[in-house]
Amino acid sequence: MNFNKQFKNYDHNAITQKKVAEKLFSFIDYSKKYDSILELGCGTGIFTKTFYDKLNFNTLNLNDIFDTTSYFTDISYNNFFIEDMENLDLENYSLIVSSSAFQWVDSLETLIKKISQSSSELVFSIYSKGNLIEILNHFGVSLNYLSCDEILDILNRYYSEIKFDTEEFILEFNSPIDALKHLKKTGVTGFKKSSYSLTKSFNSTILTYRVSYFSCKK
Ligand SMILES: C[S@@+](CC[C@H](N)C(=O)[O-])C[C@H]1O[C@@H](n2cnc3c(N)ncnc32)[C@H](O)[C@@H]1O
Repeated sequence: MNFNKQFKNYDHNAITQKKVAEKLFSFIDYSKKYDSILELGCGTGIFTKTFYDKLNFNTLNLNDIFDTTSYFTDISYNNFFIEDMENLDLENYSLIVSSSAFQWVDSLETLIKKISQSSSELVFSIYSKGNLIEILNHFGVSLNYLSCDEILDILNRYYSEIKFDTEEFILEFNSPIDALKHLKKTGVTGFKKSSYSLTKSFNSTILTYRVSYFSCKK
């Protein structure tokens, strides 16, 4: 086994997630004191750990569809809801946040509507149209990524003050197979098992990640 290659892919993954988390943090009004915060799709806590020590808040609730509580032993939270965020009953929160998770939901509009009824402030990042274009072009598979404009159209129906930005990360790999292995590890796409010949003919050594960031107030 070539450990260097494995580390390279690991680094790529951690670096992208961390960059997204750090940029997303700058969309939060961190001078404010929040009574209650909910994070949706917290995963292993890359974003949670970015805001946990820096924000002033009383209570923190976490959510993920999978039980990732073992990654949160250093974090003091009130509730961890292991549930599909689309089915989660939301109480009132001062702030709801989410990083790199909303691209998975069936209806972003239904989710945003529900969130807007429980919190006057929402800050999130989402993979958007053009994400992993190399995979779509070769394998014809993709999540149903929305464009930044499509997301803005939805948000404008529920929030009056919206700030946003988009960013592209291009990751370079030693070989096309390394790029595919990276995807397999991160699980950021709806990419499933593919035919051997289609996998063999994949010839891109880059992967493009496109992320949109939003801060929304009522
Ligand atoms: C790319 S990870 C991001 C994790 C974390 N927020 C971060 O910044 O590293 C996406 C997370 O969303 C979770 N997720 C996907 N669909 C979900 C759903 N419908 N409800 C709750 N969590 C979901 C996944 O289990 C995963 O942990």
